[in-house]
Amino acid sequence: MAHLFSPLKIKNIELKNRIAVSPMCEYSSQDGFANEWHLVHLGSRAVGGAGLIITEAAAVSAEGRITFADLGIYNDRHIEKLKEITGFIHAHGAVAGVQLAHAGRKASHVEPWNGGKQIPSDQKNGWKALAPSAIPFGNGEEAPLALDKAGIEKVKADFKTAAARAIAAGFKVIELHGAHGYLLHQFLSPVSNKRTDEYGGSFENRIRLTVEVVEAVKEVWPAENPLFVRISATEWTEGGWTADDSVALAKVLKDKGVDLIDCSSGGNVAHAKIPLKPGYQVEFAEKIKKESGILTGAVGLITTAYQANEILQEGEADLIFLAREMLRDPHFPLRAAHELRHEVKWPVQYERAKW
Ligand SMILES: Cc1cc2nc3c(=O)[nH]c(=O)nc-3n(C[C@H](O)[C@H](O)[C@H](O)COP(=O)(O)O)c2cc1C
Repeated sequence: MAHLFSPLKIKNIELKNRIAVSPMCEYSSQDGFANEWHLVHLGSRAVGGAGLIITEAAAVSAEGRITFADLGIYNDRHIEKLKEITGFIHAHGAVAGVQLAHAGRKASHVEPWNGGKQIPSDQKNGWKALAPSAIPFGNGEEAPLALDKAGIEKVKADFKTAAARAIAAGFKVIELHGAHGYLLHQFLSPVSNKRTDEYGGSFENRIRLTVEVVEAVKEVWPAENPLFVRISATEWTEGGWTADDSVALAKVLKDKGVDLIDCSSGGNVAHAKIPLKPGYQVEFAEKIKKESGILTGAVGLITTAYQANEILQEGEADLIFLAREMLRDPHFPLRAAHELRHEVKWPVQYERAKW
């Protein structure tokens, strides 16, 4: 059997294969609401045969959005459309997951196709961004507001309430976004976290918010449902967060009941040099898996069936997250099965195209 198509059971959820659609912001929402775009975008990847489909970053609060057009899960009224989407995904044999996110200092921007620049807080569609410390991400950007204790409590409460909404919306997997320079990552990193209270300074202090968010989410998220955390395993920067820090964090999160670490990298240091090449982040999935014993996901420039299958076969990761290749071809899993000579069920409507 092709490793890519072996099922993966985590807690009481079984994925039919090891292909996960990686979260991808669509910047296509108004006031955080999902719409027909999300239904078709996510739904077609379920039809295309992926085992797990994780939504784009869904903001846990309005101020936690990257742009005013981000998907949100900060209002009970967001649940209805999300429920329709999870219903469709589950009806077509995939599992629906949601990525819960807070952009922190990377909030209040325009969509990438409109330049991706920060919107100053006093301008239309802009607001004051929040962060561990009042340090902007990019040169010349407006400094964020350093969160006070009440602000940190609100962040935790927002993640918890969002997790409760995720249950109501029918999601079976939650992934917490602790990567790419967004709020949780900003706390983890000594580059962006210069706090002198119990949330800054030592490693234990910098990981505190992530750990507390996991604990808060666990208060409502069913014990039998998987909880993933996406991290940036390295910042590719001298003096920044390292792969060894990631292993240490993974051990703590494993003890807290996190099931899988989705191993990405970068995003918190504006000009970090990232050695891009096929599978360039797989080494982190392997290291974290081997040194902490937690399940890991590999992501980043994985584009072929053979490459994905080999990562699993070599025991370097447990799950393959695909982003851009799934945009190029929503039916990648069906094609991959064919290439790996593995028999999978096609949607009956498409069967005449199978051979
Ligand atoms: C259009 C687009 C939107 C993305 N949005 C998110 C996001 O919401 N959350 C996230 O963790 N990563 C996001 N990413 C990163 C991807 O999930 C993935 O980690 C990255 O693209 C590398 O994988 P790939 O080489 O398969 O594209 C996005 C990537 C793309 C291309």
